[in-house]
This record gives sequence, C-alpha cells and structure tokens, in this order.
Amino acid sequence: MKKLSLLLCCCIAHFLSYGQVAQSGLSIIPEPVKVTRLAGQFVLPKKVLIEAGTQPELSPVKNYLQKKLSTAPGSLVTIKSVAPLASIRLILNKTADTVIGSEGYKLSVKAKKIVIRANEAAGLFYGVQTLMQLLPADIESAELVKNVKWTVPAVDITDYPRFGWRGLMFDVARHFFTKDEVKQYIDAMVKYKFNLLHLHLTDDEGWRVEIKSLPKLTTVGAYNVKKIGQFGTFTPPAADEPRNYGGFYTQDDIKELVQYAQDRFVNILPEIDVPGHSLAAVVAYPELSCTPGADKYVVNSGEPFMDWTGPHNKAIVDNTLCPANENVYAFLDKVVTEVAQLFPFPYIHLGGDECAKNFWEQSDAIKALMTKENLKTQQEVQSYFEKRLEKIVESKGKKFMGWDEIIEGGLGPNAAVMSWRGIKGGIEAAKMGHEVVMSPTTFAYLDYMQSDRVNETRIYATLRLSKSYEFEPVPDSVDAKLIKGGQANLWTEQVYNLRQAEYMTWPRGMAIAESVWSPKEKKSWPYFFGKVEKQFDRFNAAEIKYAPSVYDPSFSAIRNADGTLKITLANEVDGLDTYYSFDNSFPDRFYPKYSEPIDAPKDATTLRVITYRGKKPIGRMVTMPLSDLASRIK
Ligand code: ACM
Repeated sequence: MKKLSLLLCCCIAHFLSYGQVAQSGLSIIPEPVKVTRLAGQFVLPKKVLIEAGTQPELSPVKNYLQKKLSTAPGSLVTIKSVAPLASIRLILNKTADTVIGSEGYKLSVKAKKIVIRANEAAGLFYGVQTLMQLLPADIESAELVKNVKWTVPAVDITDYPRFGWRGLMFDVARHFFTKDEVKQYIDAMVKYKFNLLHLHLTDDEGWRVEIKSLPKLTTVGAYNVKKIGQFGTFTPPAADEPRNYGGFYTQDDIKELVQYAQDRFVNILPEIDVPGHSLAAVVAYPELSCTPGADKYVVNSGEPFMDWTGPHNKAIVDNTLCPANENVYAFLDKVVTEVAQLFPFPYIHLGGDECAKNFWEQSDAIKALMTKENLKTQQEVQSYFEKRLEKIVESKGKKFMGWDEIIEGGLGPNAAVMSWRGIKGGIEAAKMGHEVVMSPTTFAYLDYMQSDRVNETRIYATLRLSKSYEFEPVPDSVDAKLIKGGQANLWTEQVYNLRQAEYMTWPRGMAIAESVWSPKEKKSWPYFFGKVEKQFDRFNAAEIKYAPSVYDPSFSAIRNADGTLKITLANEVDGLDTYYSFDNSFPDRFYPKYSEPIDAPKDATTLRVITYRGKKPIGRMVTMPLSDLASRIK
C-alpha cells in the first residue's frame, strides 16, 4: 500500500511537472527554471525607450538589445540611464539575489512594461535572450520585417543555469573557418545561453593560431592542398599541387575574437592538441619528431595517414611530438606563453587524445627516456610528457586541461579532464578529485550523422537528436561539484563550410543547451521537441541552417527465410505517418502507409520513404538501396 501511494504521488508529481511545463505554452530553449504565464501581453511600440544603467559592463547588453529591436521590428530605440516612462528596464541588482547567482535573471513582462533584473551583466544578457524567444520568430531576421505584431506574452520568469561550463567545441583545424564565420557561430550559440567556445586550434591538417616566436607554425603549418569529397580517403597530393588551402588567425584576429566573444558573455578555451594530432607542427619544425625523415612530411590534406583498425590507433606517418626531446618542451613553453597571453580564460586545453605510440616504440630516444625515468609503458611516456606540460601551463598562471587519455599512465596533480570516450574517464578523474567537463561521444558528438547514413554526410557513427537530449553530465557515483558542466564537440573532417557546421550543430546544440542549463527534472523529450519545431521558425527567419534529420525514420532489416528483407522503420518523433514505395517512384501520402515491418518484394532494389504530419510532407524523401540495408545484416 505504501508502495502504491508512493507510486501514485510520483505519477501525480510527474504529471504536474510536465503539465506545468506544457501549460506555459512558450517555446523557450533552454527551459527556464520557473515560468508563470500571466494574462495579457506587451506590444512593442514603434519608439522604444529603455532604461539601463551606465555601468560599462552593461554596454554589450544594451547594444545587443538595441540592435535586435531596431533591425527586424524597425523600432526607434532610445536608451537612458533614468527614464521613469521606459517600456523596458534592465536593472543590475544592488544587493545580490542569492537565488539566481552570477548568470541568472528575473524577467517580468506586463502589458506596459518589461523588466529584467540580474546580479551581473551576463544575467541581463540571458534575460534578453529569453525575451527574444518570447517575441515572434521574425525577430531573428537580419532585415526589416513589416506586418508583424511584435508582442510578448505576459510572464514572470526566474532562471539560472545548472552548470557554469556550457560549451560548444568548434574544430577550426581540420577545415579553417574565418574570423567572421567564428563570430557567426558565436552569435548562434549565445541564443541558447552557451557561455564557452572551445576552439580546437591545431591538428594534423593545420595550425591556426599565430605564434610570433615560431612563425613556421603558420607560414608552413596552416596550409594543405584543397581536396573535395570524402575526407580521409583522398589520394596523396602530388608534389606540384599548390599548398594554399587553409589559413590562420593572427594574434590581432584572436584578440578581436576574444573581445567579440566576451561581449556576448562567452569565454574562449584554446586547444593546442599535443603530443598526437601534431603533424602540422612537425612539418613546420621536423626537429620536434622522434622519427628520422620527418623533414619529408607534409601537412595532411585528408589522405589516409592513420590506421584505426586495431585496439590502438597506429600512425602511418609520425604525427607526434617527441617526449624524449628537450626541444619539444622549449617549443611548448613558447607556444603556451603566447597562448596564455592571448586568451584570458583560466584554462588551456592541451589535447592528449589518440596519440599513436607505434613510432615511439621504435625510437631509441624514447627507450633511453624510459630507462632514465623508469617508465614502464608508452602510456607512462605520455603521462611523463603531460605532467611536464602541466607544469609549463601552470608556470604561465593557467590551468591545464586535456582529453581523458591523459589519465592513462597517471594523471598530473591538478589536471582537469574533458571526458569524451563516454563518461568513464570523467568518473575516474572526479573520483580522484579532479575537475571534469563531460563531452561524451554517446550524447555530445556533433560530427556524428543525425539520421540514416543514406541521408547524411558519411561518418562512422550516428547520434540522433533524441539521444543527444538524454545527455546528463553528472553521473550518480561522483561528487557533483567536480563536474564543471558539459559541452558538445563539432569535429570538422567532413565539414567544409559554415552552412554544414550549422547543419551539424542544430538542433542537437539545443538538446545539449537544455542539458547543461535547465533543471534535470524539467526535461521532457516530447515537450522539448515541440519547442524545437518552433525554434526552426527562428532559424528560418535568421537563415541559419539546421538539420531536418529528426523527421527521417531509422531503418533496420532482417532476412526472411526466402532471402527477402523484412524492414522495420522507426520515427523518433510521435505523430508522423510514413509512406513508402518499392517501385522506384517517389511516395506521397497516397502510397502505402507504414504500420508494421514490411517485406520487400523479391526483385525490388530500392525502398523510398517520406514522413508526413497529416497532409503535410515533413521529412525528406529518403532513398534506401536494399543492397545497403542487406549489407548491414550481421
Ligand atoms: C577526440 O574526439 N579525439 C577528442
């Protein structure tokens, strides 16, 4: 009986929390902590008077709001420090409101007045982001939009983040993205209250940050040969093919980006990925390698150079810095000195992932180091390297962070760990008392495909939106205080341009945003997805690309006794109808509707499907060769 009443209570609580969420009828992502809908609405006047203080840290918030309200609505915006008749007020609390912390805010919308209060400017900025999501989707247009009634529903919101580290990683090394493209990426991420941009600045395909004391890193290391197609499968470039594809950020560019990000309350975490993933550095300075002949290496252009087939990746060309070479530490001291000066964020990420050890195993210098330092394994060799690097980083007043491989062979005393191979590295590090950021492939890898591979740019794994939404940064077994937060990672081997970077980031970025901002108990997939669809209208207005993959079904097949295929389709979203054909024509809603696993006719070669919501086609036309499905049967 006790159990039964407990169950009943849980059910009611569950129903209420979802009910409460759903009742707000608003589509704010990430979901705020507390939303109370009120009667009525605010109508944005043609002339908007804003009251906001003159504190310098408020300038970026005022500028942002002014630009937004004057662009699509075309309002005439005036900002004054004292304006009793103002229709919008931005108030920095004189006495800190302990509930909302440094990034939280309170937003009150009434018929005649909007008030945002916060302890710090960041909170006001997030209050403004929420306000933008309460305005019609056209607010995201970069041009004047006529004939829209610019209303905001009356509401009281109290909101603050669950985690202080809410990140997106952008790999600008595999393909270079210009300063302006990075700014556009920042513009999109702040709408969902991300506050950290991790820039993966160096890799085998390019070194992207000017280091003045090591000019060849960018004169040589920033360029490869332009190749288009399936990255990783390209033919090795010929000697006479121009090495002019790529680029780098000058130190002035970095300063500009850091300022741009700061003005949007985003920190930039720089990553210099060593000792593996370092081919661009080795090509610039071959003396950093343990391997004779490194002076003949070239910056990778997407031709195969790593063997991923075994339990440990093996390098075909030695893309590592040599831990047995003192010059490497002098080199890293120079790099870290300049990086530390460029980026105000307290952490520097020094990579450490996927370092191939097969060339080290052959190296006399490494063997001598192992004897001298009593190192038993190649993991301990890497750990020796990481610990020395940690000291260099700390000598510049910064905190050392690396991917979870830095745990293998022994973690340095103060190292922070970014857990990517699932969450187990993060758990191990937290249990040893180290700070952790969770960014597991299982939920947070934005380079993975978003639906079936026949419909996506091909890569080795799939991560659907609903799975991303399950991201929970704090495992049960660890001290939650050590989990600084979470982030999603966009690797760009197969991402050649910003439009594709946007496609890969959204909508999964919204799932991650809600996982790192909103209270865990407020998460609900059906409600979240309803909001995502409303956000799509905003992406359309902003002309930012997003993936419609969530509307594509998943496919699986088994073989019938007669050799034909029995095919199962599954949608991750409820309420869609899936129509199909095997006769090579393009189905619509007058075709057979999928209701149970279907048998492919004996001689059919192609299954085509499309999803509808009612009478409206909503998914893409998916063409599935039956040979492809058959090849997946184990
Ligand atoms: C990684 O994905 N190699 C950190």
